[in-house]
Amino acid sequence: MSVILSVENLNVSYGSIHAVKGISFDVNEGEIVTLIGANGAGKSTTLNTISGLLRSKNGSVTFMGENLGRVPPHKIVSRGMALVPEGRRVFLQMTVQENLEMGAYTKGSAGIPADLEKVYGQFPRLKERRRQVAGTLSGGEQQMLAMGRALMSHPRLLMLDEPSMGLAPILVEQIFEIIRKLHKAGSTILLVEQNAQMALSIADRGYVLETGKIVTTGPSGELLASPAIKKAYLGG
Ligand SMILES: Nc1ncnc2c1ncn2[C@@H]1O[C@H](COP(=O)(O)OP(=O)(O)OP(=O)(O)O)[C@@H](O)[C@H]1O
Ligand SMILES: [Mg+2]
Repeated sequence: MSVILSVENLNVSYGSIHAVKGISFDVNEGEIVTLIGANGAGKSTTLNTISGLLRSKNGSVTFMGENLGRVPPHKIVSRGMALVPEGRRVFLQMTVQENLEMGAYTKGSAGIPADLEKVYGQFPRLKERRRQVAGTLSGGEQQMLAMGRALMSHPRLLMLDEPSMGLAPILVEQIFEIIRKLHKAGSTILLVEQNAQMALSIADRGYVLETGKIVTTGPSGELLASPAIKKAYLGG
């Protein structure tokens, strides 16, 4: 198994708030790895730092063998990393299809029609609504659109920040089914979630983040069976 992403001793602060305190973890090609933790644990801070939107005080992020410390964020996407941010952040005034096309901006226009068809195959709901303005989509549809937009860049690593947030249980099931299919088709995924049960049910491995530190790690099955994890994150 080859390592795609390696995070070493990452530290991130907002002024005097030390949000991420020396965390280390890695993601191997073809895996789903999940980072779980409560509100404020530092999950989004970690993803935003990996994707270059925030800078770390020290520590390193290595992606496909390259230290990203000096690579600007727009170049990080062209290296093969895509982030679906918390709260989706689709372009509300643009149509579904225009949003998807925006996701291909690092690729040039040649492959766009084929990539659109592929994404529409993965998300038939988006195809039906391709002329609809994104701001009028439901929360679940916006989540699908944000994921489809990320896939338009052909990422080697797809990072999802709380895809289940604010969605009804049935939509959460649908989104996780899509993540499972992407994984089956070979995608490598780093999944951040508060919904530990759902995340561990599809991930290969997990890391538990508490107030900026990794406190436990292991195969998902082990974490799901751990009494301490059950008590803190799985409602019993
Ligand atoms: N822009 C900011 N300025 C100051 N503090 C921040 C900022 N963004 C996040 N923080 C703080 O950093 C800590 C980690 O926040 P982060 O958003 O990474 O948590 P999270 O695990 O993603 O939580 P959630 O599940 O609620 O999204 C929190 O204490 C938060 O208040
Ligand atoms: Mg967050």
